[in-house]
Amino acid sequence: MATLQAIKYSRGKLLVLDQLRLPHENHYDEVSTAEEAFDCIRSMRVRGAPAIAIVAALAHAVELHHGGCTATTPEEVISHIESRLDYLKESRPTAVDLSNAIALLKEASKATRIEGLAHPEAKEAILNAYIAKAEKILEEDLHNNTSIGAHGAAWLQQQYNATPDRKISVLTHCNTGSLATSGHGTALGIIRTLHSQNLLQHAYCTETRPYNQGSRLTSYELVFEGIPSTLITDSMAGALFNLHRERMNIGAVIVGADRVVRNGDTANKIGTYALAVLARHHGVKFVVAAPTTSIDLETETGKSIEIEERKREELTQISGAVVNADGTVDTSKTARVAIADQRIGVWNPAFDVTPNELIDAIVTEKGTVVKGADGKFDFSQVLPERWAAVVAKQM
Ligand code: MRU
Repeated sequence: MATLQAIKYSRGKLLVLDQLRLPHENHYDEVSTAEEAFDCIRSMRVRGAPAIAIVAALAHAVELHHGGCTATTPEEVISHIESRLDYLKESRPTAVDLSNAIALLKEASKATRIEGLAHPEAKEAILNAYIAKAEKILEEDLHNNTSIGAHGAAWLQQQYNATPDRKISVLTHCNTGSLATSGHGTALGIIRTLHSQNLLQHAYCTETRPYNQGSRLTSYELVFEGIPSTLITDSMAGALFNLHRERMNIGAVIVGADRVVRNGDTANKIGTYALAVLARHHGVKFVVAAPTTSIDLETETGKSIEIEERKREELTQISGAVVNADGTVDTSKTARVAIADQRIGVWNPAFDVTPNELIDAIVTEKGTVVKGADGKFDFSQVLPERWAAVVAKQM
């Protein structure tokens, strides 16, 4: 079945779906330079931790493919690549996928074998190594997401002995689907997989105030995929668990991650923490779906995660397609309206941190990590090399 595609890429050309126009219009922007990628990410035309990293990596690949690097010596070429990547890193601070991708891209460029090559050939080799690595990041993300879907669905099936006659329902927050990744999605990928295995009774998605990624994007994806689903506001989750958990067999809250740190504390879209508290109170499992690209082993606890704060208008104003007097939606017309006294003070953190004690499982593409007898998450099995490097650094 066709799925939504946030990112369309072929060597030398990158098209990015403008998510600000969704769900009413499918418009792709061509993104060919680091500046265009920076703007696309900063303005949230693309969003979601993996998608941000992929767009940044590929935009610079397109730029390099079209002669965007005028440096000649290998040292200058590498320093050009590094400075463009450092610039892109500043586009949004909380999601770690971008920093992890940048580290890999720098490493690949530096490790290019150029011994004995003249400068033009050495330059070509470095640029090719960069482009190949950026393309690999795209390719691997899709593969990772389908693995996360399979691992997460298997773990939930086991927890609840779910069968086609006894399906489970889940709640998800924000958007973690095809639109936030290269395809399939992370948390939404698990929901997709449960549905394809005939184990999903119902998916609830939150509106995800203030930016409404849930109502604008996730509900669009759920409807597109024909998944039985219901939209609620963020504030309805407690009532949903209280009133309908048993009847609907609500087994889990499944969310994505912008950054999972070494002890398992997880930064994700604002509202995630409140859902984790509610889930624990009601005996609902709380599951984080995170590719290993979203894991930050360098940071010990969630206290050190930088949380992006966004502009006040996201709370005090809203825009959308115009609804005609007869109730039909005119997708050709949009309007921006004020929904609060414009003078009110506003606090608008884009993310919050859910402490590890409220998380039951972290599903990665390499398997599901649960807490050990010591109550701690241990990522040494899913990230052996990165884990060893961090341990070595501490000695
Ligand atoms: O501000 P956004 O829309 O980029 O926030 C996105 C989220 O918080 C997602 O849950 C997270 O990035 C995981 S996407 C697979």
